[in-house]
Amino acid sequence: MTKYVAAIDQGTTSTRCMIFDHSGRVVSVDQKEHEQIFPKAGWVEHDATEIWANTRQVAAGALAKADLTAADIAAVGITNQRETALVWDRTTGQPIYNAIVWQDTRTDRICQELAALGGGQERYRAKTGLPLATYFSGPKVRWILDNVEGAREKAEAGELLFGNMDTWVLWNMTGGVNGGLHITDPTNASRTLLMDLDTLDWDADIAADMGIPLSMLPEIRSSSEVYGKVRERGALAGVPIAGDLGDQQAATFGQACLSPGEAKNTYGTGNFLLLNTGTEKVMSDNGLLTTVCYKIGDKAPVYALEGSIAVTGSLVQWLRDNLGMIKDAAEIEEHARTVEDNGGAYFVPAFSGLFAPYWRSDARGAIVGLTRFVNKGHLARAVLEATAFQSREVIDAMNADSGVPLKSLKVDGGMVVNELLMQFQADILGVPVIRPVVNETTALGAAYAAGLAVGFWQGEDDIRQNWAQDKQWDPRLDEAVREKQYRNWKKAVTRTFDWVE
Ligand code: G3P
Repeated sequence: MTKYVAAIDQGTTSTRCMIFDHSGRVVSVDQKEHEQIFPKAGWVEHDATEIWANTRQVAAGALAKADLTAADIAAVGITNQRETALVWDRTTGQPIYNAIVWQDTRTDRICQELAALGGGQERYRAKTGLPLATYFSGPKVRWILDNVEGAREKAEAGELLFGNMDTWVLWNMTGGVNGGLHITDPTNASRTLLMDLDTLDWDADIAADMGIPLSMLPEIRSSSEVYGKVRERGALAGVPIAGDLGDQQAATFGQACLSPGEAKNTYGTGNFLLLNTGTEKVMSDNGLLTTVCYKIGDKAPVYALEGSIAVTGSLVQWLRDNLGMIKDAAEIEEHARTVEDNGGAYFVPAFSGLFAPYWRSDARGAIVGLTRFVNKGHLARAVLEATAFQSREVIDAMNADSGVPLKSLKVDGGMVVNELLMQFQADILGVPVIRPVVNETTALGAAYAAGLAVGFWQGEDDIRQNWAQDKQWDPRLDEAVREKQYRNWKKAVTRTFDWVE
Protein backbone atom coordinates (compact mmCIF):
# COMPACT_ATOMS: atom_id res chain seq x y z
CA MET A 1 0.00 0.00 0.00
CA THR A 2 1.19 3.53 -0.76
CA LYS A 3 2.32 5.29 2.38
CA TYR A 4 1.80 8.98 1.61
CA VAL A 5 -0.57 11.68 0.42
CA ALA A 6 0.56 14.89 -1.29
CA ALA A 7 -0.94 18.38 -1.20
CA ILE A 8 -0.34 21.34 -3.46
CA ASP A 9 -0.90 24.61 -1.60
CA GLN A 10 -1.09 27.44 -4.12
CA GLY A 11 -0.96 30.42 -1.76
CA THR A 12 -0.82 34.20 -2.12
CA THR A 13 2.95 34.52 -1.86
CA SER A 14 4.19 31.03 -2.68
CA THR A 15 3.31 27.59 -3.95
CA ARG A 16 4.15 24.53 -1.89
CA CYS A 17 3.99 20.83 -2.20
CA MET A 18 3.85 18.88 1.05
CA ILE A 19 3.84 15.17 1.60
CA PHE A 20 2.17 13.65 4.67
CA ASP A 21 2.20 10.20 6.21
CA HIS A 22 -0.75 8.37 7.72
CA SER A 23 -0.36 10.08 11.09
CA GLY A 24 -0.64 13.48 9.38
CA ARG A 25 3.02 14.35 9.95
CA VAL A 26 5.02 16.25 7.33
CA VAL A 27 7.44 14.02 5.42
CA SER A 28 8.64 16.51 2.86
CA VAL A 29 8.06 20.06 1.67
CA ASP A 30 9.21 22.18 -1.22
CA GLN A 31 8.19 25.78 -1.73
CA LYS A 32 8.67 28.56 -4.26
CA GLU A 33 7.65 32.21 -4.01
CA HIS A 34 6.18 34.02 -6.99
CA GLU A 35 6.29 37.67 -7.98
CA GLN A 36 3.79 40.11 -6.47
CA ILE A 37 2.87 42.55 -9.22
CA PHE A 38 1.60 45.98 -8.14
CA PRO A 39 0.81 47.92 -11.35
CA LYS A 40 -0.99 50.77 -9.52
CA ALA A 41 -2.05 51.73 -6.01
CA GLY A 42 -4.62 49.17 -4.87
CA TRP A 43 -3.90 46.69 -7.71
CA VAL A 44 -2.32 43.27 -7.06
CA GLU A 45 -1.65 40.68 -9.75
CA HIS A 46 0.06 37.31 -10.20
CA ASP A 47 1.51 35.74 -13.32
CA ALA A 48 -0.46 32.49 -13.59
CA THR A 49 2.10 30.96 -15.97
CA GLU A 50 4.80 31.45 -13.35
CA ILE A 51 2.52 29.88 -10.74
CA TRP A 52 1.91 26.79 -12.87
CA ALA A 53 5.65 26.41 -13.54
CA ASN A 54 6.29 26.71 -9.78
CA THR A 55 3.61 24.11 -9.06
CA ARG A 56 5.37 21.57 -11.26
CA GLN A 57 8.73 22.40 -9.74
CA VAL A 58 7.67 22.06 -6.11
CA ALA A 59 5.85 18.80 -6.78
CA ALA A 60 9.07 17.37 -8.21
CA GLY A 61 11.09 18.96 -5.40
CA ALA A 62 9.00 17.55 -2.56
CA LEU A 63 9.16 14.03 -3.97
CA ALA A 64 12.90 14.25 -4.62
CA LYS A 65 13.64 15.54 -1.11
CA ALA A 66 12.04 12.46 0.45
CA ASP A 67 13.38 10.14 -2.23
CA LEU A 68 9.86 9.22 -3.35
CA THR A 69 8.18 8.72 -6.71
CA ALA A 70 4.58 9.05 -7.89
CA ALA A 71 4.11 5.35 -7.09
CA ASP A 72 4.46 6.16 -3.36
CA ILE A 73 1.63 8.71 -3.41
CA ALA A 74 -1.95 7.51 -2.87
CA ALA A 75 -3.58 10.78 -3.91
CA VAL A 76 -2.97 14.50 -4.25
CA GLY A 77 -5.17 17.31 -2.94
CA ILE A 78 -5.21 20.92 -4.09
CA THR A 79 -5.70 23.95 -1.89
CA ASN A 80 -5.38 27.55 -2.91
CA GLN A 81 -5.58 31.26 -2.27
CA ARG A 82 -9.25 31.92 -2.81
CA GLU A 83 -11.01 34.61 -4.90
CA THR A 84 -7.92 35.32 -7.05
CA ALA A 85 -9.43 35.33 -10.54
CA LEU A 86 -7.95 34.13 -13.82
CA VAL A 87 -9.37 34.02 -17.33
CA TRP A 88 -7.65 31.94 -19.98
CA ASP A 89 -8.13 30.77 -23.54
CA ARG A 90 -9.33 27.18 -23.67
CA THR A 91 -7.59 26.56 -27.02
CA THR A 92 -4.18 28.10 -26.42
CA GLY A 93 -4.10 27.51 -22.66
CA GLN A 94 -2.78 31.07 -22.21
CA PRO A 95 -4.18 33.52 -19.64
CA ILE A 96 -5.62 36.60 -21.31
CA TYR A 97 -4.62 38.78 -18.35
CA ASN A 98 -2.66 38.32 -15.11
CA ALA A 99 -4.57 36.74 -12.24
CA ILE A 100 -6.27 39.52 -10.25
CA VAL A 101 -5.48 38.81 -6.61
CA TRP A 102 -8.05 38.76 -3.81
CA GLN A 103 -6.38 41.82 -2.23
CA ASP A 104 -6.93 43.96 -5.34
CA THR A 105 -9.40 46.85 -5.02
CA ARG A 106 -9.81 47.88 -8.68
CA THR A 107 -13.38 46.58 -8.85
CA ASP A 108 -14.63 49.18 -6.40
CA ARG A 109 -16.63 51.02 -9.07
CA ILE A 110 -18.07 47.78 -10.49
CA CYS A 111 -19.23 46.85 -6.99
CA GLN A 112 -20.83 50.26 -6.51
CA GLU A 113 -22.65 49.97 -9.84
CA LEU A 114 -23.98 46.52 -8.96
CA ALA A 115 -25.06 47.76 -5.53
CA ALA A 116 -26.92 50.63 -7.21
CA LEU A 117 -29.07 48.12 -9.13
CA GLY A 118 -30.90 47.71 -5.82
CA GLY A 119 -30.16 46.18 -2.45
CA GLY A 120 -26.86 48.00 -1.97
CA GLN A 121 -23.93 46.08 -0.54
CA GLU A 122 -26.30 43.33 0.62
CA ARG A 123 -27.71 42.72 -2.90
CA TYR A 124 -26.45 39.13 -3.14
CA ARG A 125 -26.15 38.26 0.58
CA ALA A 126 -29.21 36.01 0.83
CA LYS A 127 -28.06 33.75 -2.00
CA THR A 128 -24.29 33.89 -1.68
CA GLY A 129 -23.67 34.70 2.00
CA LEU A 130 -21.38 37.55 0.92
CA PRO A 131 -21.51 41.35 0.81
CA LEU A 132 -20.72 43.03 -2.50
CA ALA A 133 -17.02 43.77 -2.09
CA THR A 134 -13.85 43.98 -4.16
CA TYR A 135 -12.54 40.84 -2.40
CA PHE A 136 -14.56 38.33 -4.44
CA SER A 137 -13.96 36.85 -7.90
CA GLY A 138 -17.11 37.75 -9.86
CA PRO A 139 -16.46 41.51 -10.17
CA LYS A 140 -12.83 40.74 -11.09
CA VAL A 141 -13.99 38.58 -14.01
CA ARG A 142 -16.31 41.38 -15.05
CA TRP A 143 -13.35 43.79 -14.99
CA ILE A 144 -11.27 41.49 -17.25
CA LEU A 145 -14.13 41.10 -19.74
CA ASP A 146 -14.66 44.89 -19.77
CA ASN A 147 -11.00 45.83 -20.08
CA VAL A 148 -9.14 43.21 -22.14
CA GLU A 149 -9.64 43.83 -25.83
CA GLY A 150 -11.85 41.25 -27.50
CA ALA A 151 -12.41 39.36 -24.24
CA ARG A 152 -16.17 39.76 -24.06
CA GLU A 153 -16.75 38.50 -27.62
CA LYS A 154 -14.47 35.53 -26.99
CA ALA A 155 -16.19 34.78 -23.68
CA GLU A 156 -19.60 34.88 -25.33
CA ALA A 157 -18.34 32.53 -28.05
CA GLY A 158 -17.36 30.05 -25.31
CA GLU A 159 -13.62 30.40 -25.94
CA LEU A 160 -12.60 31.58 -22.47
CA LEU A 161 -12.47 29.80 -19.14
CA PHE A 162 -12.59 31.31 -15.67
CA GLY A 163 -11.07 29.79 -12.59
CA ASN A 164 -9.63 30.49 -9.19
CA MET A 165 -6.14 29.09 -8.76
CA ASP A 166 -7.43 25.62 -7.83
CA THR A 167 -9.18 25.42 -11.20
CA TRP A 168 -6.12 26.66 -13.10
CA VAL A 169 -3.81 24.14 -11.42
CA LEU A 170 -6.33 21.28 -11.80
CA TRP A 171 -6.96 22.07 -15.48
CA ASN A 172 -3.24 22.05 -16.20
CA MET A 173 -2.54 18.95 -14.12
CA THR A 174 -5.26 17.00 -15.89
CA GLY A 175 -4.05 17.79 -19.39
CA GLY A 176 -4.61 21.51 -20.09
CA VAL A 177 -5.48 22.07 -23.76
CA ASN A 178 -5.52 18.30 -24.19
CA GLY A 179 -8.75 17.74 -22.29
CA GLY A 180 -7.97 19.26 -18.90
CA LEU A 181 -10.83 19.14 -16.37
CA HIS A 182 -12.48 22.52 -15.81
CA ILE A 183 -13.72 22.04 -12.26
CA THR A 184 -13.79 23.57 -8.80
CA ASP A 185 -15.35 22.77 -5.41
CA PRO A 186 -18.06 24.54 -3.38
CA THR A 187 -15.60 26.16 -0.96
CA ASN A 188 -13.88 27.97 -3.80
CA ALA A 189 -17.09 28.60 -5.72
CA SER A 190 -18.66 30.14 -2.60
CA ARG A 191 -16.09 32.96 -2.85
CA THR A 192 -17.04 34.17 -6.31
CA LEU A 193 -20.33 35.95 -5.46
CA LEU A 194 -21.81 33.73 -8.18
CA MET A 195 -22.75 30.55 -6.29
CA ASP A 196 -26.05 29.85 -4.56
CA LEU A 197 -25.25 28.47 -1.09
CA ASP A 198 -28.31 26.18 -1.10
CA THR A 199 -28.08 24.62 -4.55
CA LEU A 200 -24.25 24.73 -4.68
CA ASP A 201 -24.63 25.77 -8.30
CA TRP A 202 -23.98 28.97 -10.23
CA ASP A 203 -26.76 31.51 -10.04
CA ALA A 204 -27.75 32.53 -13.56
CA ASP A 205 -29.34 35.84 -12.43
CA ILE A 206 -26.23 37.04 -10.63
CA ALA A 207 -23.99 35.94 -13.51
CA ALA A 208 -26.27 37.91 -15.87
CA ASP A 209 -26.07 40.99 -13.59
CA MET A 210 -22.31 40.79 -13.79
CA GLY A 211 -22.23 40.06 -17.52
CA ILE A 212 -20.43 36.76 -17.05
CA PRO A 213 -21.36 33.95 -19.49
CA LEU A 214 -22.13 30.71 -17.65
CA SER A 215 -20.01 28.81 -20.19
CA MET A 216 -16.86 30.31 -18.62
CA LEU A 217 -17.58 28.89 -15.18
CA PRO A 218 -16.12 25.58 -13.99
CA GLU A 219 -18.22 22.61 -12.98
CA ILE A 220 -18.68 22.50 -9.18
CA ARG A 221 -17.75 19.08 -7.80
CA SER A 222 -17.39 18.07 -4.14
CA SER A 223 -14.26 18.88 -2.09
CA SER A 224 -13.32 15.22 -1.73
CA GLU A 225 -13.71 12.74 -4.60
CA VAL A 226 -11.50 11.35 -7.33
CA TYR A 227 -11.71 13.94 -10.11
CA GLY A 228 -9.16 12.28 -12.38
CA LYS A 229 -5.46 11.53 -12.57
CA VAL A 230 -2.44 13.74 -13.08
CA ARG A 231 -1.99 13.63 -16.85
CA GLU A 232 0.83 16.06 -17.49
CA ARG A 233 4.27 14.51 -17.67
CA GLY A 234 5.44 15.64 -14.25
CA ALA A 235 6.65 14.11 -11.03
CA LEU A 236 3.10 13.23 -9.93
CA ALA A 237 2.06 11.65 -13.27
CA GLY A 238 -0.68 9.08 -12.80
CA VAL A 239 -1.56 10.03 -9.18
CA PRO A 240 -5.32 10.46 -8.50
CA ILE A 241 -6.36 14.04 -7.79
CA ALA A 242 -8.96 13.68 -5.08
CA GLY A 243 -9.26 16.85 -2.97
CA ASP A 244 -9.93 20.52 -3.66
CA LEU A 245 -10.58 23.13 -0.96
CA GLY A 246 -9.96 26.85 -0.60
CA ASP A 247 -7.01 27.31 1.73
CA GLN A 248 -8.93 28.62 4.72
CA GLN A 249 -11.52 25.87 4.56
CA ALA A 250 -8.67 23.37 4.16
CA ALA A 251 -7.04 24.73 7.32
CA THR A 252 -10.35 24.34 9.18
CA PHE A 253 -10.47 20.72 8.05
CA GLY A 254 -6.79 20.17 8.87
CA GLN A 255 -7.37 21.62 12.36
CA ALA A 256 -10.08 19.00 12.87
CA CYS A 257 -12.77 21.67 13.35
CA LEU A 258 -15.29 19.10 12.20
CA SER A 259 -18.16 19.75 14.61
CA PRO A 260 -20.45 22.76 14.87
CA GLY A 261 -18.95 25.36 17.24
CA GLU A 262 -15.30 24.53 16.48
CA ALA A 263 -13.19 27.36 15.08
CA LYS A 264 -9.67 28.14 13.92
CA ASN A 265 -7.76 31.30 13.06
CA THR A 266 -5.06 31.14 10.37
CA TYR A 267 -2.30 33.76 10.44
CA GLY A 268 -1.08 34.04 6.83
CA THR A 269 -0.77 37.06 4.54
CA GLY A 270 -4.18 37.86 6.00
CA ASN A 271 -6.07 36.27 8.90
CA PHE A 272 -9.09 34.08 8.40
CA LEU A 273 -11.23 32.88 11.27
CA LEU A 274 -13.70 30.13 10.41
CA LEU A 275 -16.37 28.70 12.68
CA ASN A 276 -17.94 25.40 11.65
CA THR A 277 -21.74 25.81 11.80
CA GLY A 278 -22.52 22.28 10.61
CA THR A 279 -25.10 21.64 7.92
CA GLU A 280 -26.86 24.83 8.99
CA LYS A 281 -26.15 27.97 6.98
CA VAL A 282 -25.93 30.83 9.49
CA MET A 283 -26.35 34.34 8.08
CA SER A 284 -24.31 37.06 9.75
CA ASP A 285 -25.72 40.26 11.20
CA ASN A 286 -22.26 41.43 12.17
CA GLY A 287 -20.14 41.70 9.03
CA LEU A 288 -19.02 38.08 8.70
CA LEU A 289 -19.32 35.87 5.64
CA THR A 290 -21.36 32.71 5.25
CA THR A 291 -19.36 30.23 3.26
CA VAL A 292 -19.11 26.53 2.45
CA CYS A 293 -16.66 24.87 4.85
CA TYR A 294 -16.39 21.57 2.96
CA LYS A 295 -18.42 18.99 1.10
CA ILE A 296 -17.16 15.44 1.36
CA GLY A 297 -18.31 13.32 -1.57
CA ASP A 298 -22.09 12.82 -1.54
CA LYS A 299 -22.54 14.02 2.05
CA ALA A 300 -24.42 17.21 2.83
CA PRO A 301 -22.32 20.37 2.70
CA VAL A 302 -20.95 21.78 5.94
CA TYR A 303 -21.06 25.57 6.28
CA ALA A 304 -18.96 28.09 8.16
CA LEU A 305 -19.08 31.66 9.35
CA GLU A 306 -15.89 33.47 8.38
CA GLY A 307 -14.13 36.61 9.51
CA SER A 308 -11.67 37.60 6.77
CA ILE A 309 -8.91 40.10 7.51
CA ALA A 310 -6.98 41.28 4.46
CA VAL A 311 -3.67 42.34 5.97
CA THR A 312 -1.82 40.71 8.86
CA GLY A 313 1.36 38.81 7.87
CA SER A 314 1.62 40.90 4.72
CA LEU A 315 2.08 43.97 6.95
CA VAL A 316 5.30 42.39 8.24
CA GLN A 317 6.33 41.71 4.63
CA TRP A 318 5.58 45.33 3.77
CA LEU A 319 7.90 46.47 6.57
CA ARG A 320 10.60 44.20 5.13
CA ASP A 321 10.10 44.82 1.39
CA ASN A 322 8.74 48.35 1.10
CA LEU A 323 10.44 50.03 4.09
CA GLY A 324 13.51 47.82 4.61
CA MET A 325 12.88 48.19 8.37
CA ILE A 326 13.62 44.51 9.02
CA LYS A 327 15.66 41.90 7.14
CA ASP A 328 13.34 39.00 7.79
CA ALA A 329 9.99 38.36 9.43
CA ALA A 330 11.57 36.90 12.59
CA GLU A 331 13.23 40.25 13.34
CA ILE A 332 9.91 41.92 14.07
CA GLU A 333 9.60 40.02 17.35
CA GLU A 334 13.13 41.04 18.39
CA HIS A 335 12.27 44.73 17.91
CA ALA A 336 8.92 44.32 19.64
CA ARG A 337 10.62 42.74 22.67
CA THR A 338 12.75 45.85 23.25
CA VAL A 339 9.69 47.69 24.62
CA GLU A 340 6.96 47.03 27.16
CA ASP A 341 4.01 48.11 25.04
CA ASN A 342 3.08 50.03 21.88
CA GLY A 343 3.95 53.42 23.39
CA GLY A 344 0.51 54.69 22.33
CA ALA A 345 0.93 53.85 18.61
CA TYR A 346 -1.69 51.94 16.63
CA PHE A 347 -1.19 50.75 13.05
CA VAL A 348 -4.36 49.99 11.05
CA PRO A 349 -3.21 48.23 7.86
CA ALA A 350 -6.20 49.01 5.65
CA PHE A 351 -4.12 48.43 2.52
CA SER A 352 -6.98 46.71 0.67
CA GLY A 353 -9.64 48.75 2.39
CA LEU A 354 -11.01 46.95 5.44
CA PHE A 355 -12.58 43.50 5.23
CA ALA A 356 -14.52 41.96 8.15
CA PRO A 357 -16.36 43.25 10.01
CA TYR A 358 -16.33 46.63 8.21
CA TRP A 359 -16.26 45.92 4.44
CA ARG A 360 -15.05 49.43 3.61
CA SER A 361 -13.16 49.72 0.37
CA ASP A 362 -12.78 53.46 0.99
CA ALA A 363 -10.43 52.87 3.95
CA ARG A 364 -6.64 53.19 3.66
CA GLY A 365 -3.89 52.41 6.17
CA ALA A 366 -2.97 54.72 9.06
CA ILE A 367 -0.56 54.89 11.97
CA VAL A 368 -2.02 56.97 14.78
CA GLY A 369 -1.04 57.99 18.31
CA LEU A 370 2.49 59.06 17.32
CA THR A 371 4.63 61.19 19.64
CA ARG A 372 8.40 61.71 19.79
CA PHE A 373 8.48 58.96 22.40
CA VAL A 374 7.56 56.31 19.79
CA ASN A 375 10.50 54.28 18.49
CA LYS A 376 11.12 51.34 16.19
CA GLY A 377 10.25 48.84 18.94
CA HIS A 378 6.86 50.47 19.56
CA LEU A 379 6.08 50.41 15.85
CA ALA A 380 7.10 46.75 15.64
CA ARG A 381 4.70 46.06 18.50
CA ALA A 382 1.94 48.07 16.86
CA VAL A 383 2.43 45.99 13.72
CA LEU A 384 2.05 42.71 15.61
CA GLU A 385 -0.80 44.01 17.74
CA ALA A 386 -2.73 44.98 14.59
CA THR A 387 -3.10 41.29 13.82
CA ALA A 388 -4.41 40.53 17.30
CA PHE A 389 -6.80 43.51 17.44
CA GLN A 390 -8.25 42.69 14.04
CA SER A 391 -8.76 39.08 15.17
CA ARG A 392 -10.51 40.30 18.31
CA GLU A 393 -12.91 42.30 16.15
CA VAL A 394 -13.92 39.29 14.09
CA ILE A 395 -14.23 37.11 17.19
CA ASP A 396 -16.52 39.68 18.79
CA ALA A 397 -18.64 39.55 15.61
CA MET A 398 -18.58 35.75 15.66
CA ASN A 399 -19.67 35.66 19.30
CA ALA A 400 -22.53 38.05 18.54
CA ASP A 401 -23.67 36.01 15.51
CA SER A 402 -23.46 32.62 17.14
CA GLY A 403 -24.62 33.67 20.60
CA VAL A 404 -22.04 31.29 22.10
CA PRO A 405 -18.78 32.94 23.18
CA LEU A 406 -15.65 31.19 21.96
CA LYS A 407 -13.88 29.47 24.88
CA SER A 408 -10.49 29.00 23.23
CA LEU A 409 -8.93 29.66 19.85
CA LYS A 410 -7.04 27.14 17.70
CA VAL A 411 -4.41 28.90 15.61
CA ASP A 412 -2.15 28.01 12.69
CA GLY A 413 -0.21 29.61 9.83
CA GLY A 414 3.16 31.29 9.44
CA MET A 415 2.81 33.95 12.17
CA VAL A 416 2.01 31.55 15.00
CA VAL A 417 5.73 30.97 15.57
CA ASN A 418 5.71 34.50 16.97
CA GLU A 419 5.39 33.95 20.72
CA LEU A 420 4.89 37.60 21.58
CA LEU A 421 1.99 37.81 19.15
CA MET A 422 0.40 34.61 20.48
CA GLN A 423 0.62 35.89 24.07
CA PHE A 424 -0.85 39.24 23.07
CA GLN A 425 -3.60 37.47 21.15
CA ALA A 426 -4.60 35.54 24.29
CA ASP A 427 -4.34 38.77 26.33
CA ILE A 428 -6.54 40.81 24.01
CA LEU A 429 -9.14 38.05 23.61
CA GLY A 430 -9.22 36.97 27.23
CA VAL A 431 -9.30 33.28 26.19
CA PRO A 432 -6.53 30.68 25.70
CA VAL A 433 -4.83 30.39 22.31
CA ILE A 434 -3.84 26.87 21.24
CA ARG A 435 -1.30 25.85 18.60
CA PRO A 436 -1.25 22.30 17.19
CA VAL A 437 1.89 20.23 16.54
CA VAL A 438 1.32 20.29 12.79
CA ASN A 439 0.90 23.92 12.07
CA GLU A 440 0.76 23.34 8.28
CA THR A 441 -2.95 22.70 8.55
CA THR A 442 -3.85 24.16 5.15
CA ALA A 443 -1.87 21.59 3.17
CA LEU A 444 -2.84 18.92 5.69
CA GLY A 445 -6.55 19.64 5.19
CA ALA A 446 -6.21 19.23 1.42
CA ALA A 447 -4.28 16.00 1.96
CA TYR A 448 -7.05 14.73 4.28
CA ALA A 449 -9.73 15.52 1.67
CA ALA A 450 -7.76 13.62 -0.99
CA GLY A 451 -6.82 10.75 1.32
CA LEU A 452 -10.42 10.26 2.49
CA ALA A 453 -11.59 9.93 -1.13
CA VAL A 454 -9.17 7.08 -1.88
CA GLY A 455 -9.57 5.30 1.47
CA PHE A 456 -6.09 6.24 2.74
CA TRP A 457 -7.90 7.60 5.80
CA GLN A 458 -11.19 6.00 6.77
CA GLY A 459 -13.13 8.91 8.15
CA GLU A 460 -13.21 12.05 10.25
CA ASP A 461 -12.18 10.17 13.39
CA ASP A 462 -8.74 9.59 11.84
CA ILE A 463 -8.41 13.35 11.45
CA ARG A 464 -9.50 14.02 15.02
CA GLN A 465 -7.05 11.43 16.34
CA ASN A 466 -4.14 12.89 14.40
CA TRP A 467 -4.64 16.37 15.88
CA ALA A 468 -2.28 17.08 18.79
CA GLN A 469 -1.64 20.20 20.83
CA ASP A 470 1.79 21.80 20.85
CA LYS A 471 1.42 24.89 23.02
CA GLN A 472 -1.17 26.97 24.83
CA TRP A 473 -1.05 30.66 25.82
CA ASP A 474 -3.32 31.84 28.63
CA PRO A 475 -4.50 35.44 29.03
CA ARG A 476 -2.44 37.49 31.51
CA LEU A 477 -3.41 41.09 30.85
CA ASP A 478 -5.56 42.97 33.32
CA GLU A 479 -9.08 43.31 31.93
CA ALA A 480 -9.25 47.11 32.32
CA VAL A 481 -5.97 47.55 30.43
CA ARG A 482 -7.13 45.17 27.74
CA GLU A 483 -10.39 46.99 27.16
CA LYS A 484 -8.70 50.40 27.13
CA GLN A 485 -6.27 49.26 24.44
CA TYR A 486 -9.10 47.77 22.43
CA ARG A 487 -11.07 51.03 22.65
CA ASN A 488 -8.00 52.88 21.33
CA TRP A 489 -7.75 50.41 18.48
CA LYS A 490 -11.39 50.95 17.55
CA LYS A 491 -10.83 54.70 17.54
CA ALA A 492 -7.74 54.23 15.32
CA VAL A 493 -9.84 52.22 12.84
CA THR A 494 -12.27 55.12 12.39
CA ARG A 495 -9.34 57.29 11.27
CA THR A 496 -8.86 55.14 8.15
CA PHE A 497 -12.35 55.72 6.71
CA ASP A 498 -13.26 57.92 3.72
CA TRP A 499 -9.81 58.06 2.12
CA VAL A 500 -10.96 56.98 -1.32
CA GLU A 501 -13.86 58.82 -2.89
O1 G3P B 1 -9.13 34.65 0.89
C1 G3P B 1 -7.75 34.76 0.68
C2 G3P B 1 -7.05 33.60 1.28
O2 G3P B 1 -7.53 32.42 0.74
C3 G3P B 1 -5.55 33.76 1.09
O3 G3P B 1 -4.85 32.96 1.96
O4 G3P B 1 -2.88 32.01 3.01
O5 G3P B 1 -2.80 32.56 0.60
O6 G3P B 1 -2.86 34.36 2.28
P1 G3P B 1 -3.24 32.98 1.97
